[in-house]
Amino acid sequence: MLTNIFAFFLKISPRLKRTVWKKLYQYLAKKYPTAEWPYMNYGYESCDQPMAIPLKEGEENDRYMIQLYHHVATAVDLRDKDVVEIGSGRGGGSSYIKRYLTPKTMIGIDYSKNAIKFSNNHHSEEGLSFMHGDAENLPLSNESVDVIVNVESSHCYGSMKKFVEQVHRVLRPSGYFLFADLRPSEEIEQLDKTFNDAGFEVLKKELISKEVVHAMEAFHEYKLAFFQNMVKGWLKKPLNDFAGVKGSNIHKELSNGKMVYYHYVLRK
Ligand SMILES: C[S@@+](CC[C@H](N)C(=O)[O-])C[C@H]1O[C@@H](n2cnc3c(N)ncnc32)[C@H](O)[C@@H]1O
Repeated sequence: MLTNIFAFFLKISPRLKRTVWKKLYQYLAKKYPTAEWPYMNYGYESCDQPMAIPLKEGEENDRYMIQLYHHVATAVDLRDKDVVEIGSGRGGGSSYIKRYLTPKTMIGIDYSKNAIKFSNNHHSEEGLSFMHGDAENLPLSNESVDVIVNVESSHCYGSMKKFVEQVHRVLRPSGYFLFADLRPSEEIEQLDKTFNDAGFEVLKKELISKEVVHAMEAFHEYKLAFFQNMVKGWLKKPLNDFAGVKGSNIHKELSNGKMVYYHYVLRK
């Protein structure tokens, strides 16, 4: 999640950007250990008609965030595959993928140790595990993974080039890289070049800003009430912004096209 509060830091240096995001996610996982907050993305909803994917009881509140995962991860058949999510956050997405899309193994990796602890405490499923690790130096051996999933995490990385090279290294030949994230619109050309330089073939490049904004608006009331209830004091305003409620900077910039949200399907 990207907001103007942090935009200043993001422009200073990659190292500082990494450090600021890391501290923030470490803090959030420790300060708010509530099980009712398993996802940290802006969500996805089709603009034509509701996606209405079937969900188990108790998952309805997370529908839009789950739908982003569903949209990204169903781009290829994950059944019986070895799948890794980089930037797994509070673990909801990796858990959804394991339970609904039935890969053989599913590993969530995040550089926030607190988020990994939270994920291990809250998501228990055979074949699902979480481990601490850095996207720019993945703790995985060469050619050991069929599919890498990466949802709304890469904007925090110091070097996108290092990350994409790592993904290429750990994927098996013809493995898939399922990517979704937001960027200032002028950075997309560089993103394309980074994928291309690492040796990826682009099978699909899809602008999904409208669908993300649609989800933000549909989810507004619930999210506002949720954060109002949970967050006290000075963090209230920045967290509303961070969470992408209606009228937040990120909602405005995704609506006016200054920021864009893309989904890519890439093959090694
Ligand atoms: C906006 S959250 C998204 C979490 C999850 N993908 C979701 O949609 O719920 C971004 C996540 O990326 C993680 N992250 C940021 N930089 C990372 C890095 N260099 N290596 C691994 N994880 C990272 C953060 O700790 C955070 O959990």
